[in-house]
Amino acid sequence: MPYLVGDSSQSSHLKLLPFTKPIISDKIWSRICRAMEKKEDSFRVTTSDDLEVSAYLEIAKELRGEKPIPEKAPEVDREAVAIIDFGSQYSMLIAKAVRQCQVYCEILPYDAPWQRVAKLKPRGFILSGGPASVYEPGVPLAPAYIYESHLPVLGICYGMQVLAYQLGGKVAPATRHEYGHAILHQGDVESPIFAGLPPSIPVWMSHGDQIVEMPPGFTTLGYTENSPIAVMGNEHGIIGLQFHPEVVHTPQGKEILKNFLYQICGCRGNWTAGSFIAESVESIKRQVGEGRVISALSGGVDSAVTAALVHHAVGDQLTCIFVNNGLLRREEPERALNTFQRNLKMNIIYVDATERFLKRLEGVVDPEKKRRVVGEEFIRVFEEEAAKLGKVDFLAQGTLYPDVIESATTASKASAAIKTHHNVGGLPTKMTLRLIEPLRDLFKDEVREVGLALGLPEEMVWRQPFPGPGLSIRIIGEVTWEKLEILRGADWVVMNEIKKAKLYRDLWQSFAVLTDTRSVGVMGDYRTYGYLVAVRAVTSDDAMTADWARLPYDLLARISNRIVNEVPGVNRVVYDISSKPPSTIEWE
Ligand code: XMP
Repeated sequence: MPYLVGDSSQSSHLKLLPFTKPIISDKIWSRICRAMEKKEDSFRVTTSDDLEVSAYLEIAKELRGEKPIPEKAPEVDREAVAIIDFGSQYSMLIAKAVRQCQVYCEILPYDAPWQRVAKLKPRGFILSGGPASVYEPGVPLAPAYIYESHLPVLGICYGMQVLAYQLGGKVAPATRHEYGHAILHQGDVESPIFAGLPPSIPVWMSHGDQIVEMPPGFTTLGYTENSPIAVMGNEHGIIGLQFHPEVVHTPQGKEILKNFLYQICGCRGNWTAGSFIAESVESIKRQVGEGRVISALSGGVDSAVTAALVHHAVGDQLTCIFVNNGLLRREEPERALNTFQRNLKMNIIYVDATERFLKRLEGVVDPEKKRRVVGEEFIRVFEEEAAKLGKVDFLAQGTLYPDVIESATTASKASAAIKTHHNVGGLPTKMTLRLIEPLRDLFKDEVREVGLALGLPEEMVWRQPFPGPGLSIRIIGEVTWEKLEILRGADWVVMNEIKKAKLYRDLWQSFAVLTDTRSVGVMGDYRTYGYLVAVRAVTSDDAMTADWARLPYDLLARISNRIVNEVPGVNRVVYDISSKPPSTIEWE
């Protein structure tokens, strides 16, 4: 499937629990550690956008003393490669690039046991970059099984240095560190790694060490001005690249990876939305048998695709529960119902719980409390509805690959984190559901492809992330029906104008915030005293950092104009020009 490079994981606002160090950059990891030491209450960590809803249910079960039962999906036979991670900030990019070449891959830590790797039945290995220097003591190295497997290996940057070091070559600090653009020239020896490529190509370098002596049996396949051995290889398909083929600054990087996968590992590229759906449908059928499945629909991409996929597999054995908490955007419930009920003919229980949620939110101004209230109430409503269904066996949820990478705990990292954040509990109903997570091998872009292939509308598949507590955390201060309606009106204008300007997909998020500030204005002959609406639009890759979007002035003018004209109660609009950090994306 032609995967699009773009956003990956989306986010939830979660408090962090101590968990094993995931594969993230050291910068982020040290931020996490600092936040944990300081016990920051509002530290936020990324996870898929609507994982939260299902996680509430897991949490409720755990708090009742019932351990969630993660179901192991039956194993499938996929053409795959293993990416061995040495702590690179680019490992996910490598994985996405490989999958864009239609080859399935998984990221595994460098110390993963062979049994775990063997399950993948890899046709080759890719060794990632990493921050270490091979000649320092105690640094991560490649496990022996990689060399013993006699499979092709592609070492990238630090991965190349690992190959050189372990196979008998020499690595040393470079006289000049090489960061940024360089021109790579092919050597005299022809190699399939460069098949179809011109003799010189631009590449992206980022290294302080370099190979000064190749291991026996290797030849130089490419060089740059500063790196005499920028590419090396041997006749057994072991290749080292000093540059990063996975980043956009190496424009032909994808072709190099493709050459490795197809020409050297012998992959054919059968990982497509269609093949995923086919194998997934088979595996869901086998798992579920005659059982009944429930799933929570939130209107987000992950839960939508999960439901559509499970429905494809087991039809009416699936019942979806859509809880309208009154905190959704204009027309959102109607559109979701239209898609799932009318178009896809799925069993949907629609619960309008607006009043219940608003009642519970009365007088609540603290953002964390809002989140807790929404989470708790969601579980109550969901469980009440589920109980009416009689015996149910499975809960389907939209966990994605970025949520599970290196989360070796039974409950997912995200649900564990939400648990402390939301502190829900005291729920009497007995549910012994087993979890099915059909998207847990997929990146967000792949989920979108699968969603489209399953017939979900583009509008749903390309939806920007929307927080679980909905508009409640975009209304500063107490949430009332009147304020919700004002915010829905303003949000509608923002969305509409951003979509008309064809910027919706380029922005991570774009929305309106209803502040609790009122100011004086003048409309016609009258003075007004109305609300101040803030417009927020950000670009981001993963919600951990974000920049305010440089929207064209004309667009901002149209948005402002329309909001004050179309939304009663608002007389002033401001644009938020703060980035994250130090601000956050949401205002609460
Ligand atoms: P912040 O505001 O922390 O947001 O920069 C990062 C990303 O997380 C989303 N977000 C949430 N998602 N529940 C969610 O499901 C929440 O409580 C929550 N708070 C923030 C936010 O929209 C952004 O994408």
